[in-house]
Amino acid sequence: MSRMWQLIIILALLICYHVNAEDPYRFFTWNITYADIYPLGVRQQGILINGQFPGPDIYAVTNDNIIVNVYNNLPEPFLLSWNGVQQRKNSFEDGVYGTTCPIPPGKNFTYVMQMKDQIGSFYYFPSLAFHKAAGGFGGIRILSRPRIPVPFPEPHGDFTLLIGDWYKTNHNVLKSILDQGKMLAFPDGILINGRGNNSAWFTVEPGKTYRLRISNVGLRDSLNFRIQGHEMKLVEVEGTHTVQTTVSSLDVHVGQSCSVLVTADQPAQDYYIAVSTRFTDQVLTTTAVLHYSNSRKPVSGPPPPGPTTDIQWSLNQARSIRTNLTASGPRPNPQGSYHYGQINVSRTIRLANLPGIVNGKQRYAVNGVSFVHADTPLKLADYYNISGVFRVGSISDYPPRGRGIRLDTSVMGADYRAFVEIVFENRENITQSWHLDGYSFFVVGMDGGSWTPSSRKQYNLVDAISRSTTQVYPKSWTAIYVALDNVGMWNLRSEYWARQYLGQQFYLRVYTPVRSFRDEYAIPQNALLCGRADGKRS
Ligand SMILES: *[C@@H]1O[C@H](CO)[C@@H](O)[C@H](O)[C@H]1NC(C)=O
Ligand SMILES: *[C@@H]1O[C@H](CO)[C@@H](O)[C@H](O)[C@H]1NC(C)=O
Ligand SMILES: *[C@@H]1O[C@H](CO)[C@@H](O)[C@H](O)[C@H]1NC(C)=O
Ligand SMILES: *[C@@H]1O[C@H](CO)[C@@H](O)[C@H](O)[C@H]1NC(C)=O
Ligand SMILES: *[C@@H]1O[C@H](CO)[C@@H](O)[C@H](O)[C@H]1NC(C)=O
Ligand SMILES: *[C@@H]1O[C@H](CO)[C@@H](O)[C@H](O)[C@H]1NC(C)=O
Ligand SMILES: *[C@@H]1O[C@H](CO)[C@@H](O)[C@H](O)[C@H]1NC(C)=O
Repeated sequence: MSRMWQLIIILALLICYHVNAEDPYRFFTWNITYADIYPLGVRQQGILINGQFPGPDIYAVTNDNIIVNVYNNLPEPFLLSWNGVQQRKNSFEDGVYGTTCPIPPGKNFTYVMQMKDQIGSFYYFPSLAFHKAAGGFGGIRILSRPRIPVPFPEPHGDFTLLIGDWYKTNHNVLKSILDQGKMLAFPDGILINGRGNNSAWFTVEPGKTYRLRISNVGLRDSLNFRIQGHEMKLVEVEGTHTVQTTVSSLDVHVGQSCSVLVTADQPAQDYYIAVSTRFTDQVLTTTAVLHYSNSRKPVSGPPPPGPTTDIQWSLNQARSIRTNLTASGPRPNPQGSYHYGQINVSRTIRLANLPGIVNGKQRYAVNGVSFVHADTPLKLADYYNISGVFRVGSISDYPPRGRGIRLDTSVMGADYRAFVEIVFENRENITQSWHLDGYSFFVVGMDGGSWTPSSRKQYNLVDAISRSTTQVYPKSWTAIYVALDNVGMWNLRSEYWARQYLGQQFYLRVYTPVRSFRDEYAIPQNALLCGRADGKRS
């Protein structure tokens, strides 16, 4: 009996420990500065974090509290946003202008974020102006808690690969081109971890397996990723463990992240890692080097070829990516059912992107509205009941008939706990990439042509991937399901950066009339106040 009591007491202690133990805190102090960088061989003004370009990686474990004190030493306002980090109940920390006041030059702001119920690979980036074209981005990895099994053996090493298209032109010049209502030219190259051709190296030991976390942090282009002589096993997409499939190359659309496993099982030499643009007339390719520690031969031959303009190949690959339903770890649990396919959709929203000219300038719109910023972050206006900043319903659930577009601070209202179907309709001839802050959504279907209600017959209602960024192919549609279980003001945007800058975005206000800390946290004590919220602190 004493033995059993001992066990019971230990168990009880363990349970109390879990209830009471505070999740760990990890502190970062980041100094944001301008400095010269030469990623494509010419001098450019880069945005550095603690002297680094790209910025440092954030390592976290599920539920960790991440405290990042950001000192803005640029001569202009600055904000970081956290692509894919859900900021549960806490859109104040999202770091886009609709939720968070810019950090004034010479000032600091401390982000207080919890990686609540999340695992996976994500990245952060500067959200204001056209800063993203100057750097300031870096990887975020959230590991599973120690006792939660991961559906593959612990890799020998874990690399972050930030890939993206790049301009030699200064980010302020790019911004002023857009401000004048003109479009940007084709990018000048592709960077891998901030480096140009053949200059990023990844050293591996023979026979070992590595995890590569790939994020497309670029400004517009879909990219294809591959490694000479090696297969890759896709294991994770934006926080979801996938059914592990072996691929020889992988499309990563702008704003997306994923993980692959690669085993150094080839003869001891160096191999090309190749990244090239997709769906472009001119194909840009940049290589990095997979270096075997016992290598006897440098890289040789042409870099491995990849798909270039073929859309069907990409669509087929995207459809083949599914969730491993038996893998453990935090999984989306909409309405407590784990079976998203059995929940009744309470609302269908159809979103069409279109370009247009307003006052002689190039703009981009969603459902006929091209987003313009208000003078006050929308979340703060909402919190302090400041009227006249935005109007809920300033964008409709359906595309208008005509092609005309207007400027507005578009905010769509939605009910907390609604289960919503969103159809992205791309009537243009370029690939789109859409991201929703605060959420992970199920990508239930995508196909060419126009979406109709009968398109629902082909939805994957069983094991669709859950992620926060999805592509929409030219003249095609993509449908997602999202359980609106995170109260707040959330940015829904094009990841094609010039398009989001010129209005292809809006905010989804997920609202409950009940004001309770159970549903949404209070404004952070250190929140910066600006615009019409200036001086509002009570
Ligand atoms: C940030 O870096 C700048 C330039 O190196 C330096 O002058 C400043 O003191 C640094 N600030 C902090 C808080 O480290
Ligand atoms: C700026 O940094 C100081 C020192 O760490 C900190 O106490 C303060 O809260 C930070 N300011 C903001 C707005 O977060
Ligand atoms: C799915 O996850 C399970 C549980 O971790 C794992 O054993 C299995 O290999 C995975 N299957 C595939 C196809 O990825
Ligand atoms: C990069 O290097 C590869 C291999 O040497 C070469 O084929 C390719 O043309 C180079 N690309 C650029 C943009 O210089
Ligand atoms: C969904 O709707 C159908 C038809 O209206 C109804 O029979 C069913 O009970 C609903 N399911 C749930 C889970 O609410
Ligand atoms: C805003 O209005 C709501 C509802 O009238 C009220 O509960 C809340 O306290 C107000 N907030 C502030 C900061 O005044
Ligand atoms: C898309 O259409 C525009 C306008 O009709 C045209 O200028 C452009 O070349 C087309 N792009 C592609 C990739 O087909």
